[in-house]
Amino acid sequence: MYAQKKVVINLETQTEGPQISKHIYGHFAEHLGRCIYGGFYVGDDETTIPNTDGVRNDIVDALKELQIPNLRWPGGCFADTYHWQDGIGPKDQRPTIVNRWWGDVTEDNSFGTHEFLNMCELLDTEPYLSGNVGSGTVKEFADWMQYVNNDGVSPMSDLRRENGREDAWGVRYWGVGNEAWGCGGNMTAEYYANVYRQFATYMGGWTNDGKVMRIASGASSNDYNWTEVLMKNIPNRLIDGIALHHYSVIDWGAKGPAVDFNEEQYFTILQRAYEMEELVTKHVAIMDKYDPEGKIDLIVDEWGGWYEVEEGTNPGFLYQQNTMRDAMIAGMTLNIFNNHADRVKMANLAQAVNVLQAVILTDEEKMILTPTYHVMRMYTAHHDATLIPMEIENVSYKRGEAELPAISASASVDKDGKKHISLVNIDSKEAYTISIPLAGLKKSAVTGEILVSDKIQNHNSFDEPNKVIPTVFKDYKVKGDQLEVTLPAVSVVMLEVK
Ligand code: AHR
Repeated sequence: MYAQKKVVINLETQTEGPQISKHIYGHFAEHLGRCIYGGFYVGDDETTIPNTDGVRNDIVDALKELQIPNLRWPGGCFADTYHWQDGIGPKDQRPTIVNRWWGDVTEDNSFGTHEFLNMCELLDTEPYLSGNVGSGTVKEFADWMQYVNNDGVSPMSDLRRENGREDAWGVRYWGVGNEAWGCGGNMTAEYYANVYRQFATYMGGWTNDGKVMRIASGASSNDYNWTEVLMKNIPNRLIDGIALHHYSVIDWGAKGPAVDFNEEQYFTILQRAYEMEELVTKHVAIMDKYDPEGKIDLIVDEWGGWYEVEEGTNPGFLYQQNTMRDAMIAGMTLNIFNNHADRVKMANLAQAVNVLQAVILTDEEKMILTPTYHVMRMYTAHHDATLIPMEIENVSYKRGEAELPAISASASVDKDGKKHISLVNIDSKEAYTISIPLAGLKKSAVTGEILVSDKIQNHNSFDEPNKVIPTVFKDYKVKGDQLEVTLPAVSVVMLEVK
């Protein structure tokens, strides 16, 4: 019986893995529901919420703690309806538009290019701009790059200076449309590949160092044909990254509740999340055919759990709570990305504040950090560290005929030589003993942190903001050259080995 509950993780410490790009830990902020307005941005008007130029100080502090490496904006679907010139200049002269994708609400454009890029400076994060391809023009896109990135004298950089910003921001990451197969224009892969080539032609040369990442709108989940057609039809010199979107959703017609879900729904969502392993492997295999040297990055710029909206909230706002189930999705998905760090160079959780699998939820002046936030914070140890490849002799978490690996893990070594091992046990009932051979180990060299709670539905609320928080982890022993860890059901552990 005991042997069945034991998992062995062999770290291949002699093999130098790739660097785990910190950009895997990126975030996403769309003009959707209360992500920007009522989330990040409380505006210039009178508000009692402490802010800097309209951006909430508590959110800035919380996200700085996560060391968020990049922030994608303004969408999502919104990006292909967004005309950036509407969002510059004096605010009282900015036109209003209707946010067609998200609740048909009026968008007053008070949060535009300057507000976003200045906010990124406050957050000490790199912006990732999604340009409008679906309803925009090549000129509009190229003008935005000129406005944002050109330090010289040019019509758009002069306009930027007139609007109060002398220095170019030097934005490196640019998405060429979003979900071009759907809200970004309902294009075929062949058509989008041509459109992409046209836009990419005019994207170069607007930064001093010439470094811009051109990211093609990628496939939805297992649409391998999309990746194949893009890789085949876009010359490698015109593309630096190709995106992939994958949400953990039970059924688009019946997504199930965010909190009051049952074990069946818990298991199904984790099956969906685990699909990321196969998706990344197969999309990368296609990319390898056309780019054997691996110069083009896979950018998973939307991922996370998607459920029914919270009762009583606007269905177009995608506001949902965040439970231990989401902590499992986050821990497992980030381990998958780490283990594929040779090609997955960037990813963006959808979304940062008040939308889908958010790390932060707000209610007027109140703010809470979700279980997903805590996982992201624990995993900062992996940012830019070197992956240690591993083999896991795993066990199964079963439901009927279906099964999933119960344990997910990844490991890295940082620049100071400290090893970090992140472990996730998704099994809703069983604890497991994890055995990790590590030569010459002393117990004093090991420390740990754990996120665990006794119910899969547990979450933080505005009344109980600290119900689910990480604590010191002590349930490990050193037995000879083995580190033996007891991993409770539904838990995420980060171990540090000096
Ligand atoms: O993240 C919410 C939406 O999901 C995005 O706007 C879109 O790209 C995706 O379908």
